[in-house]
Amino acid sequence: MHDRASGRLNGHAALAFFDDQHPPAGDFLADVLDGFSRSPKQLAPVYFYDAAGSAIFDEITQLPEYYVTRTELAILDRIGPELAALAGPGAVVIEPGSGSSVKVRKLLDALSEPASYVGLDISGGHLKAACLEIAEAYPDLQVGAVCADFTQGLDLSHLPLHDGKRILFFPGSTVGNFEPDGARRLLAGFRQAMRPGDAVLIGADRVKDPARLVAAYDDAQGVTARFNLNLVHRINRELGGSINPASLSHRAIWNADKARIEMHLVAGLAQEFQIGDSTFKLREGESIHTENSHKFTQESFTSLAESVGFRVRSTWSDDAELFSLHWLEPAAKA
Ligand code: AVJ
Repeated sequence: MHDRASGRLNGHAALAFFDDQHPPAGDFLADVLDGFSRSPKQLAPVYFYDAAGSAIFDEITQLPEYYVTRTELAILDRIGPELAALAGPGAVVIEPGSGSSVKVRKLLDALSEPASYVGLDISGGHLKAACLEIAEAYPDLQVGAVCADFTQGLDLSHLPLHDGKRILFFPGSTVGNFEPDGARRLLAGFRQAMRPGDAVLIGADRVKDPARLVAAYDDAQGVTARFNLNLVHRINRELGGSINPASLSHRAIWNADKARIEMHLVAGLAQEFQIGDSTFKLREGESIHTENSHKFTQESFTSLAESVGFRVRSTWSDDAELFSLHWLEPAAKA
């Protein structure tokens, strides 16, 4: 018997729904060829996260220099009662880009009788496994999954959701990976899927001492360097590339004008390599730009949020103001 409300099937946790919106698979080869044809050369950070890259990212979150994850988790631990009060009972928690489920558990634990959890991710396999774990751990929760690309807007209209307040949970400062236009488009997409009374709980890393920022992205143990170089290993393995990984070195720089950390792979020597049928050249010292991680002030984040129809209801930060979480609500229409 399938009990729809709890999603339990014969005593085992099951998903209340799995909604496959068939996101077009990213074309790794086309994107790499396009990125390497630009000047400066670039690669998209989404490609960091194959199995190996995701495992290295987990290592990053444990590094002494990478304050981001532990600071956000500590803030979440501290603000539970306030989140519970803002959300009220019966909330529907929706997590775009739900990778690992550690953070959302803190949110679910804080809320009073949350009604539903919906994980939404572009990769269906991981998504299902992660959502099943949540369903297992929270037997009273309706747990569903949506396989979709959250950068293309959120279509939640047809999901069989409880009608509580919807809380979009977007931790980690993932928003910082997007350039200003992309971040606006992303948040506008969230805003479009929301009704009055709904909210976004979003993590945003703060502008701070550049030395501290650079250390977080260029750690002493070289874990972030491995993360960055994993892209090259992926290209060689999956696309038949012939790039010599030893010829490239990891660099993290603070771009003050754009308030962002940039990660690059810099060629130690001039070289030529193949990807598929295409040949590319790198000059000595030429860089491949692999990631942007934008950092925010209270003002810059507020203006981003307000530009797409939100108001910032609450902001929480740690004592050192390294990181912040913001509670956004749809602004009343003028
Ligand atoms: C997952 C995008 C939040 O920008 O801090 C960590 C990715 N890159 N170290 C970040 C990342 C290098 C991370 N985000």
